[in-house]
Parts: sequence; C-alpha cells; structure tokens
Amino acid sequence: MSIYFIDGKFADKQEISISVDDRGYYFGDGVYEVIKVYNGKLYTANEHIQRLFESADKIKLSVPYTEQQIIEIASKLVENNNLDTGHIYLQVTRGNAKRVHQFPNPSVQPVFMAYALTNPRLVANMEVGITVKSVEDVRWLRCDIKSLNLLGNVLAKQEAQEAGCFEALLHRDGVVTEGSASNFFGIKDGVVYTHPATNLILNGITRQTVMRLCQEIGLPIEEKAFTLREAFQMDELFLTSTTSEVMPVVAVDQSLIGEGQPGVITKKLQEAFAAQIPVPIGKN
Ligand code: PDD
Repeated sequence: MSIYFIDGKFADKQEISISVDDRGYYFGDGVYEVIKVYNGKLYTANEHIQRLFESADKIKLSVPYTEQQIIEIASKLVENNNLDTGHIYLQVTRGNAKRVHQFPNPSVQPVFMAYALTNPRLVANMEVGITVKSVEDVRWLRCDIKSLNLLGNVLAKQEAQEAGCFEALLHRDGVVTEGSASNFFGIKDGVVYTHPATNLILNGITRQTVMRLCQEIGLPIEEKAFTLREAFQMDELFLTSTTSEVMPVVAVDQSLIGEGQPGVITKKLQEAFAAQIPVPIGKN
C-alpha cells in the first residue's frame, strides 16, 4: 500500500514529502473523505466525492480535480496497490503558504493527497456488538463539514478508548448528536430514530444508505433527535460509518441496551447492508 497520489502524480510513499507550511498542518485547513473498497471495488464513491465538494465549498476551498478525475485517481490507487478490502483516504488542504490565519493572498494551489489502505470488515465486532461511552459534544457548530480539524473528535474517541469502549456517544445539552467518527441510531417500539442532518452532525453516507434500507424493508424511520436519557431506554442502538457499516451497540456507560446483544432489527439492517456491498469479481 505504498503508492500515494500527491502533487498530481502517483509516487511511492518513501518519495513524497509535505511542506511544513501546509495549512492542513498548521490549521487543519482542509477537508477529507474515506471511501470504502470491497473486493477491489469502490463503494458509494460518487456520494463521498460529492460530499467532499460540498465540504470544500463550505470552507471556500476549490478542489483541483473533477468528480470523474477523483474516481479515476481512486480506482488507480486500488489497482496500483492491489487493494482488495479497505479504503481510500483523500484530503485537500488550502495549500502551502506563510503562516497567517486568513487565506493566502494571492491564493496558492490546494494540496490534494490520496492513498489506499487495507482494512478488513469488522465482522467480529459486528457479530457481538460494541460498547460506547457518553462524552459531552464540545465541537464547533459546523459538524456538517468533513473538516481536517478533528480535535474534539480525537479527544472524545480517546476518552472512550481509555474507558475500554469502541466509540464515544456524543451529546450536546443532553441530546445525542453522533459518534466521534460515526452516526447513531436508536430503535424504540419498532421505530428507528436518528439525529436530523443539521449543522450538528456529519450527514454520513452510511447513515443515508441505512435510511434508504429502512424504507426498502418497511421499517419506520424518523430523523428525530433523542436524548442521552432516552438512549439508555432504547430497545436497540447501533452506529454507522464507512468502516463500521451497521455496528450494534450493546452497552452505554456499562449499562446494557436491551438484552445486551445485537437486536433483531439491527441484524436485519446488517443483512440488508451486506446484501448490497460489491461482490468479488467473477461472482456476480
Ligand atoms: N468518519 N460522523 C463523523 C463525525 C464521522 O467522522 C464519520 C465518518 C461519520 C460517518 O460518515 P460515513 O458514513 O460517511 O463514513 C459520522 C470516517 C470514517 C473517518 O473519519 O475515518
């Protein structure tokens, strides 16, 4: 996995360098995406790339490639690195310039970087479920932007991991928003709830897929926020992300959710999700 794409070309990781003046390094002044690859095939790549453009637009950054060019770069990375199952990481920063907070004037060329990484599906976790720790959401008010500025997320995840948990369940003023790197769903009396796609969460691509799957299999789904107190009372709880897919949450702060096992509806959604991921070449 050593072939990267940077400065308009593919190069071995050993041969590339990043400027210390990169605004991503100084300020986290950039945006990123993580695209899943299953069996050598890009999954929901257009949706991720469109969100990259949206995030960039929201911070007044221009992405130096078209959607089609980015698809080609990502596909080449899969091919050149012989990637089977894992992901493509891509990021764009506002470029290299003397450290001043305002945008460089005159503007400089944005830095676009992408690489491939092997990352097997988390099947063991998905089978038994994971635990989470509630953490206050102290992030800024533009969580809809997939920004490189992730300090709030980093600290929350670290706190969860130190407590032996897989993920942090973020709550703002007692209302569950999302995870440090995932979206949360709760199920009560057969209805699936998740926080609406406002400025307080990242509108996950997996979140959107799961909402579509709910509709397809006839599960009532409501974009309605629930409180932390309500989270403890849910019949089932799960989180979604590109790398976690549909991940059952079996305990919050050591308090069991439902029976403390992946719930029936969550399992149904896991099956529906698995049924639509790309199959190995030659098997379709
Ligand atoms: N994280 N919310 C946050 C804050 C996230 O960082 C992510 C993704 C999600 C889920 O989005 P999606 O379903 O599009 O992956 C929600 C990625 C995987 C990461 O930072 O590595």
